Amino acid sequence: MKIALTGTPGTGKTAVAAELAGRGLNVLDLNSLLVPYRLERDEARGSWVVDVERAARELELPSDCVLEGHLSHFFDVDWVAVLRCSPGELELRLKGRGWPPEKVRENVEAEALGIISSEARELHRNVCDIDTTGRTPRQVADRLLSERGRACPGLDFLDLLDG
Ligand SMILES: Nc1ncnc2c1ncn2[C@@H]1O[C@H](COP(=O)(O)OP(=O)(O)OP(=O)(O)O)[C@@H](O)[C@H]1O
Ligand SMILES: [Mg+2]
Repeated sequence: MKIALTGTPGTGKTAVAAELAGRGLNVLDLNSLLVPYRLERDEARGSWVVDVERAARELELPSDCVLEGHLSHFFDVDWVAVLRCSPGELELRLKGRGWPPEKVRENVEAEALGIISSEARELHRNVCDIDTTGRTPRQVADRLLSERGRACPGLDFLDLLDG
């Protein structure tokens, strides 16, 4: 099964991917695969704009893999796991990275609105939101494997967003 492991920055994709790799799954780091598809630098966001549509057409994924990255739901996969996190906990995780307040706020709001989950559900039928709030990457990996291949309802964190 081709699995996309996506989610807002800080939801724990890389931490969970490391856990899954440790259990023998074939994890692919999408950010590295996208280096040849970079178009320009977005200085305000400190990130790269990439040609994800061309990458999705050109990159051939092995039939069993976990594609990890916040753009992985744009690829042709069998199942999408969207890591989710409550706004309060995500804020702490992103502040802990030393990110500037406006970048933290932008990502916390995007997560509360469920933007990645909605994008994934527009493109795929087989999508599952996995709540990482209060769970270790190991517990999240357990959950992901037990839900593997299943569609499940989206989570709603909008009520928990303050201000
Ligand atoms: N389940 C968790 N519980 C608590 N902290 C976590 C959890 N998962 C990840 N973290 C911490 O949150 C931070 C972000 O995790 P990680 O780098 O895995 O996120 P990411 O989704 O890969 O983000 P990005 O999209 O920026 O690569 C790290 O400091 C990590 O240690
Ligand atoms: Mg990461």
